[in-house]
Amino acid sequence: MRIVVTGGAGFIGSHLVDAYIAEGHEVVVVDSLWAHGGGRRENIPHGVTFVHMDIRDDGIQRIFSEFKPEVVSHHAAQHSVAIGARDPKLDANVNVVGMLNVLEAAVKAGTRKVIFASSAATYGDAAKMPVDEGSPQRPVSPYGITKMVTEHYLRFFQSEHGLDFTALRYGNVYGPRQDPNGEAGVIAIFLGKFLQRQGVRIDWDGEQTRDYVYVGDVVRANVAALNKGNADIFVIGTGKKTSVNEIYRAMVDVTGFEAPVTNAPRRPGDAREVYFDPAHAKRGLGWEAEVALVDGMRKTYEFFRDKEKTLA
Ligand SMILES: NC(=O)c1ccc[n+]([C@@H]2O[C@H](COP(=O)([O-])OP(=O)(O)OC[C@H]3O[C@@H](n4cnc5c(N)ncnc54)[C@H](O)[C@@H]3O)[C@@H](O)[C@H]2O)c1
Repeated sequence: MRIVVTGGAGFIGSHLVDAYIAEGHEVVVVDSLWAHGGGRRENIPHGVTFVHMDIRDDGIQRIFSEFKPEVVSHHAAQHSVAIGARDPKLDANVNVVGMLNVLEAAVKAGTRKVIFASSAATYGDAAKMPVDEGSPQRPVSPYGITKMVTEHYLRFFQSEHGLDFTALRYGNVYGPRQDPNGEAGVIAIFLGKFLQRQGVRIDWDGEQTRDYVYVGDVVRANVAALNKGNADIFVIGTGKKTSVNEIYRAMVDVTGFEAPVTNAPRRPGDAREVYFDPAHAKRGLGWEAEVALVDGMRKTYEFFRDKEKTLA
């Protein structure tokens, strides 16, 4: 299959590229290597065509018309909740207008399907747990708003242009290559600190929970979505909730280092509890998470440790 992966130099996108290549697909990566994102040129495997381009660029249409992708995996995004809150226009520009540019190019190139990286952020503070596809979406951040809006555009493009789609609403994805700087997930941030033998900050009382899903599991959902789950939306999570305190304890076990802890107040807008019901993904994609948190954390730790050794 010919597949374009937008954001393919980033954390999740680059793992998708690896998996699609391993399955024998032909892949073109489109990525702007945005300064505030996790995209790195070294994440793209040798031999894969890399187009250094912004998804808002008119040139996207030419790239798509030449390559004629059968599937477009749309993972490029302004992915920071904090940046989106500071600059909602930038957020909408990249996440909505940029995505529309990609969808229009896909229609013109005769693309069959778009796989879209949506987010748990589309739910905001969900009143009922676990969250499933039918839970009301009331996003509380511009980032969550743009991710929700683009899901609606996917439906429009399908009914209007016959462009098929699968949207995957990820929980908190973690794993190798996640950028430990800035405001990545707590696992990457903690690992960065643990490796440097520094202390960590735990907000609130550390009992707030999230659904942490390993990037390898997310990749399998994306591989399944190549041929399954058409015109459908899935929450992609483990169905298990894990607190920040539990992550901290597991990390002490994995690294053998008891990082000093500083406590801080609850961050505004921080939800108490989030976890998903993955039953629909099992039915529609034949997917369920397989990697236990402690195993995923160990793999992630080993990746960052080995990277540090190479750089040393
Ligand atoms: N990491 C998570 O926990 C999580 C959860 C839910 C959804 N998502 C979504 O998954 C996707 C991938 O996220 P990630 O965590 O791998 O982040 P990432 O920053 O590592 O990857 C995003 C990629 O998009 C690229 N990009 C940004 N703006 C661009 C633009 N205008 N044009 C072209 N490329 C651009 C970046 O350079 C980067 O390589 C994003 O759409 C994100 O919103 C991630």
